[in-house]
Amino acid sequence: MKILVTGAAGFIGSNFVFYMLDKHPDYEIIALDALTYAGNLETLKLVMNNENFTFVRGDIADRECVFNLFESAGFDVVVNFAAESHVDRSIEDPGIFLKTNILGTQVLMDAARKFGVKRFHQVGTDEVYGDLPLDRPDLFFTEDMPVTASSPYSASKASADLLVMAYYRTYGLPVSISRCSNNYGPYQFPEKLIPLMIANALADKPLPVYGTGENVRDWLYVEDHCKAIDMIIHNGKIGEVYNIGGHNERTNLEVVKTILRQLNKPDSLITFVGDRKGHDLRYAIDPAKISGELGWLPDTSFDVGIKKTIDWYLENEAWWKNVMTGEYQEYYNKMYGDR
Ligand code: NAD
Ligand code: DAU
Repeated sequence: MKILVTGAAGFIGSNFVFYMLDKHPDYEIIALDALTYAGNLETLKLVMNNENFTFVRGDIADRECVFNLFESAGFDVVVNFAAESHVDRSIEDPGIFLKTNILGTQVLMDAARKFGVKRFHQVGTDEVYGDLPLDRPDLFFTEDMPVTASSPYSASKASADLLVMAYYRTYGLPVSISRCSNNYGPYQFPEKLIPLMIANALADKPLPVYGTGENVRDWLYVEDHCKAIDMIIHNGKIGEVYNIGGHNERTNLEVVKTILRQLNKPDSLITFVGDRKGHDLRYAIDPAKISGELGWLPDTSFDVGIKKTIDWYLENEAWWKNVMTGEYQEYYNKMYGDR
């Protein structure tokens, strides 16, 4: 099987490449990534010499590049991870989110239609369900809920999902969509909550918690996400949406305090800062469909996963220090400078 993995130099895409090359050593993986600030070739260095892995630098919104690649390679499956993925950046500057996340997905699907694929899998997010109230722990996101959006990021991902379903209905493109909750694990860019807090705590810098810190996220260890996508592209039904999440809900404050405890750092590093605009209150996935239909269950609890993640950041300081230079410093000062 020949699989195109877009966004493979980013956090989840790279973990998916490692997972697939290990689980299916006879599969051929071609990675397409534009290497934006969030993509890093260093992340893929473990697989660069694998004869079943090829890296191509290119933009999913570049029609000529994408069509040439599809024509020359002939893919069985496309898994589209490539995206602008950070909510805060989308609030500052939505334009690139619309281009990559919507138009890029369109270009990939046009190529998939023209050259044929057995499956086009869109990696979506639970943010397209909006949010849930904090005082209704009985409510969860299910696949039949209406799509809505709070941030330009989630609006762009919701638009992409709608376009994917339109290509299925109108052109019969064999699609599937997964909508996952918050991931954490190795190689996550330190602009997202968990790696940012680990990096700041290690440097004894303030840990900027938005608002009251009571917002809830449903955390999933990245390998469990990769396992779910592997199951969907093999056995998931065409034209279907699958939610992915493992009932690991935590308030942001709980997550930050867990990190501080494990690193032996004081709670006094916690600094409450101005809230995110339009900040979603609670995400919580009902994974009954993927568990019932495909037998997916997460392997890693939050307590185990957060320890593995912190250990990884302790052992791979060079990786994250390297990506926290230049553009990152400018970004950090702009976002947190006088918040
Ligand atoms: P990331 O920001 O770490 O990585 C994104 C990757 O896409 C980078 O390597 C970047 O260089 C590449 N990219 C960006 N624009 C591109 C373009 N125009 N052409 C080609 N490559 C481009 O993101 P992530 O956290 O790994 O998320 C991957 C996907 O999973 C995204 O679609 C995101 O919406 C979705 N998702 C993420 C989470 C999460 O918690 N991180 C949860 C659910 C869904
Ligand atoms: O739910 C899936 C989504 O999870 C993905 O689609 C997104 O790509 C991914 O970035 C993530 O979005 P969130 O906005 O939930 O993740 P983030 O790590 O940015 O923030 C998690 C929570 O922590 C959120 O409530 C905001 C808060 N936060 C975040 C940062 C960066 C802080 O309190 N302080 C911070 O500095």
